[in-house]
Amino acid sequence: MAQFNIVVLPGDGIGPEVAAAGVEALKAIGDVYGHTFNFEEKLIGGIAIDERNDPYPADTDAACLAADAVLLGAVGGPKWDLQPKRPEQGLLAVRKSLGLFANLRPMDVAPSQAFRSPLKEDIVSGADMLIVRELTGGLYFGKQTRTETQATDECLYTVAEVERVARVAFEAARKRRNKVTSVDKANVIETSRLWRETIIKLHKAEYSDVELEHALVDSMAMHLVTRPKSFDVIVTENMFGDILSDLASVLPGSIGLLGSASLGATGKGLYEPIHGSAPDIAGKDLANPIGTLKSVSMLLRFSLNLGKEADALDAAIEAVIAAGQLTKDLGGTLPGSEVTKAIVAQIRAGASVAA
Ligand code: NAD
Ligand code: IPM
Ligand code: MN
Repeated sequence: MAQFNIVVLPGDGIGPEVAAAGVEALKAIGDVYGHTFNFEEKLIGGIAIDERNDPYPADTDAACLAADAVLLGAVGGPKWDLQPKRPEQGLLAVRKSLGLFANLRPMDVAPSQAFRSPLKEDIVSGADMLIVRELTGGLYFGKQTRTETQATDECLYTVAEVERVARVAFEAARKRRNKVTSVDKANVIETSRLWRETIIKLHKAEYSDVELEHALVDSMAMHLVTRPKSFDVIVTENMFGDILSDLASVLPGSIGLLGSASLGATGKGLYEPIHGSAPDIAGKDLANPIGTLKSVSMLLRFSLNLGKEADALDAAIEAVIAAGQLTKDLGGTLPGSEVTKAIVAQIRAGASVAA
């Protein structure tokens, strides 16, 4: 019997819908396994701008810093586009404040579900990769300047920043299929040359047992859709990782399926689906909750050390997918809330089978 403090940041658009799914799943896990999750909901993003004139209010930051883990829905939307204060600044601020430099974005295509992919089944069936995206450096956090007629974005990386995220990738590879693909644009960009040299040195010094290859980001985008099965762990800088992970989400059939864990030097983490606030479907109960529920599974595993509970949630998700209880993005007919209910029912049923 344990108690955990979870900060929930619903945010904007479909954010509140999918965050609610995550809370329901955690409550079911708590009931079944005898844990108490204390939820504290805080403002972030556009709604925080509306209510507090700040995309990341100080009390949200304090709560996140004090929590055992943070669950986030999504931020942003057309209402706040091109304003000086942007919802996305809230997301960057929470990642930076918590020191979450490694963003883990797993993607796999179970052979039984490969037919849902828009790509050919034999190309995607069995693909299984982990994208490790650097999350607190690069263009996202460099100095920006702007005049009427020009703008600049600084892209800065230090050796220490590259090393720490590369370590996460190499360690993960050792527990998987022992291969790392490092993605950069070293033929053009100086930070990419530093990235590649640093990874080569670290590999030689500490991880020579892991297979390492380098890929340029442009052809990598092509290889991700032509031979996705050849990749195990992919490590890359902030913006390349953002773009390549949305690309990879096409393989299983929907961006709504992918979750993520953002981790730093401590056990604390931020867990969020990789998709955005999806303004086109917000408020219609069409959002696929599975990406968020997979994020919750990682929250249980990585921040709360509850591996058995994470396995139970993963199994519940798989059972519901296998039964074809799906939202529209995957060709199903169920509202998102019904998919969540089905997964919660599986959590409870799975526990009674085990008992
Ligand atoms: P998006 O990921 O919100 O949506 C892209 C497409 O995928 C849309 O057609 C949407 O309907 C669909 N989609 C996304 N999630 C889905 C789900 N769970 N179920 C079913 N379909 C889903 O990307 P966008 O449209 O480029 O961005 C919209 C807003 O979200 C922007 O303001 C952007 O800044 C923000 N954004 C936020 C995050 C985040 O909070 N982590 C991530 C990406 C984008
Ligand atoms: C994501 C999003 C964010 C990012 C934006 C909204 C700041 O696209 O989480 O993938 O680029 O990191
Ligand atoms: Mn993104």
